[in-house]
Amino acid sequence: MAIRIRTLIIASLVAAAAGGTFVYLGIYNIAATEQHTAPVYWLLDYAMRRSVKNFSADIEPPALSEEARVRNGFRIYSEKCQQCHGAPGVAPDALAFGLRPAPANLAATAREWSVTEIYWVVRNGVKMSGMPGWEYRLTDDEIWDVVAFVRRLPAFSPKGYAEWASAAPPRSEARLAPAPDEAVPSAGNAEAGKRAIGQYLCATCHSIPGVVGASKHVGPPLEGMANRKYIAGVLPNTQENMVRWLRDPQRIDPRSAMPALGVTEKDARNMAAYLSTLD
Ligand code: HEC
Ligand code: HEC
Repeated sequence: MAIRIRTLIIASLVAAAAGGTFVYLGIYNIAATEQHTAPVYWLLDYAMRRSVKNFSADIEPPALSEEARVRNGFRIYSEKCQQCHGAPGVAPDALAFGLRPAPANLAATAREWSVTEIYWVVRNGVKMSGMPGWEYRLTDDEIWDVVAFVRRLPAFSPKGYAEWASAAPPRSEARLAPAPDEAVPSAGNAEAGKRAIGQYLCATCHSIPGVVGASKHVGPPLEGMANRKYIAGVLPNTQENMVRWLRDPQRIDPRSAMPALGVTEKDARNMAAYLSTLD
């Protein structure tokens, strides 16, 4: 028994060392111009499918056949999805050709996936794949509109799609605007703020405690933000001012390298609440 356990421990140490060496030496080619090996591709694809099934299991879909929904979904699709996924008779934009995994043709997906699975992927995106999560950029209703449209994709001919494209009225700004700021509580929620920080590229410029991967120094580190007297050296550090800064830094300091990132009032309040916990 003791010998068997010892053999097992040694075998797993050898495996771990071999794996570590493989990673350290950079042997796996991460170039997007090279194919994944078949086992790696299978594993990534299978894990994605299982994960989507698991997390979408309890979602109740609304009614999706209403024509207005499908029409609005078409508008959102042609603006936010077609550049990567293409459409009947329409090739994706240049950027999509270099993505690996390559963005799926969604007519095929619409045949194989349930509407709740499609909804979940559109809302949440897929890590390490190039598929963005849209939760912070589209309202829940708009996401269902897109799903309603994707479900119809297999029925479209290139001619039919082109007809819709030429008939589509200019997109309705009102509906595509960021989530309406109705009923925003004045005190933000720090946990929700931390999650939102992960969705507005903050981590590409700042180091932020509690946010994995946020270790860049384009802007100042946000450690100890709660104790700072001023925001960016110009605004007294209050919650209200932080919300103003996060929503439109350029208005407060036109020379600042921090851009306005389209942060909604609600997300800004939540982020301000999180930043005020960093002491
Ligand atoms: C920047 C490129 C890009 C954009 C924009 C984009 N996607 Fe994706 N999408 C991807 C990639 C890459 C994948 C993952 C590869 C894969 O499995 O298809 C993916 C996967 C998916 C999947 C899972 C499909 C499958 O069969 O695996 C769905 C559904 C989807 N996207 C829908 C959408 C919708 C709807 C939009 C617009 C709101 C959208 N995507 C915008 C790149 C993009
Ligand atoms: C493109 C890079 C960039 C992005 C993206 C960015 N910032 Fe900034 N940020 C900066 C820079 C640069 C400054 C310094 C501003 C100045 O002094 O003019 C700054 C300043 C700040 C400050 C004030 C810091 C201090 O020491 O007073 C806070 C707070 C802040 N950013 C939070 C955020 C949050 C939250 C996000 C995401 C919503 C974000 N930033 C996205 C570059 C960025």
